[in-house]
Amino acid sequence: MLQVWCLTLDKYPELPNMYKFLFRPLLFRLSSDYAHEITIKSASLLSQYKWLLKITGALYGYSDESLEQKIGGLRFPNPVGLAAGFDKNGTAAPFMQNLGFGFVEIGSVTANSCIGNPKPRTFRLPEDQSLINRLGLNNEGVLTISRRLKYRNLSIPMGVNIAKTHDPSIIGERAIEDYRTSFDMVKNIADYITLNISCPNTTEGKTFEDPDSLYKLLKSLEIEHDASLPPVLVKFSVDLDDSLLHELLDICEGFAIEGYVATNTSSLRENLKTRESVIQQIGKGGLSGKAIGAKSTAVIQKIHSYTKGLKTIIGVGGINSTEDAIEKLKAGADLLQIYTGLVYEGPSLIKKINRGLVAYMEKHGIDHVYHIRKVKTR
Ligand SMILES: Cc1cc2nc3c(=O)[nH]c(=O)nc-3n(C[C@H](O)[C@H](O)[C@H](O)COP(=O)(O)O)c2cc1C
Repeated sequence: MLQVWCLTLDKYPELPNMYKFLFRPLLFRLSSDYAHEITIKSASLLSQYKWLLKITGALYGYSDESLEQKIGGLRFPNPVGLAAGFDKNGTAAPFMQNLGFGFVEIGSVTANSCIGNPKPRTFRLPEDQSLINRLGLNNEGVLTISRRLKYRNLSIPMGVNIAKTHDPSIIGERAIEDYRTSFDMVKNIADYITLNISCPNTTEGKTFEDPDSLYKLLKSLEIEHDASLPPVLVKFSVDLDDSLLHELLDICEGFAIEGYVATNTSSLRENLKTRESVIQQIGKGGLSGKAIGAKSTAVIQKIHSYTKGLKTIIGVGGINSTEDAIEKLKAGADLLQIYTGLVYEGPSLIKKINRGLVAYMEKHGIDHVYHIRKVKTR
């Protein structure tokens, strides 16, 4: 019930940020893996009680017409979404909706269930407001998750992020088949589908960040031949160099890809204040949070200019404040997602960003979130 108190008290602006000053220190005394387990279990439990959801919605909800957008036929009440990885099994989506998110992305979901890598597998870098994780695509599998999601009745768009099953023996044609299984199962349930080709935490690596493999995958999904499909997006790594990014974009643009999620975590260890020995001790994993913020914004800019602003971009990576959100929107993002920011700033971050965006628009005399990109940065 720690979480309930945390969420309730956190709402009042006249109180110090209760998450940061009381609950975060408590949660940070637990291992990062355990703290996430408790959080997701609490959120899943709370998702089952309508009256608790209502209270949460009343405390955390924030709406303003200027934040609403219609993209890919979907109505987004605000641009701040939950990034993939937080609610891998889709058990907590109703709670996330009531926390004020404008959309949620479930997953990554894979064809076969998977327990992921051994623990410990998530690590905090508080000095950098960042995380390193090597969860390894742990999830209950597409059959169980799609059955669960079928009966979710959300008023915000729900994306489902799919990836290849974490199993190094599934390669080549079998890897494509594996992807197709997930794709076919979620296509009638998801409001949009994200193809995660950039998970850094599997033994076999990022199979589909190889241009030939991506081409074969997209061809086999036959996206352009099925008008009933929801929008399909591709999620890129933050580490792609320009030539590979362009090559992959070229391939995607040859198929009916609606847009891009930029970006996933980094396998590199750049831009960190945390001591080298600590980083060494942690070992492999994807770096997320503040440390990748600027790099992810640069990738958004590149995709935006390459696609001439014609494709939807979900900007994700290191958003911890309204300022970070504005940077991503100015780089060309239409929508935003957060994960690591929630761990460091708490659930009030969603409302804080949305309020901040509205205040920014008022200050600059603009009436819609889309036009933020036109405000000149000094
Ligand atoms: C613990 C953890 C687990 C994640 N799991 C997934 C995942 O399963 N699929 C995926 O596409 N991205 C996953 N991500 C990446 C996030 O969705 C996001 O792209 C990345 O963390 C950058 O955003 P952030 O800096 O706001 O965390 C995960 C991130 C974290 C921190």
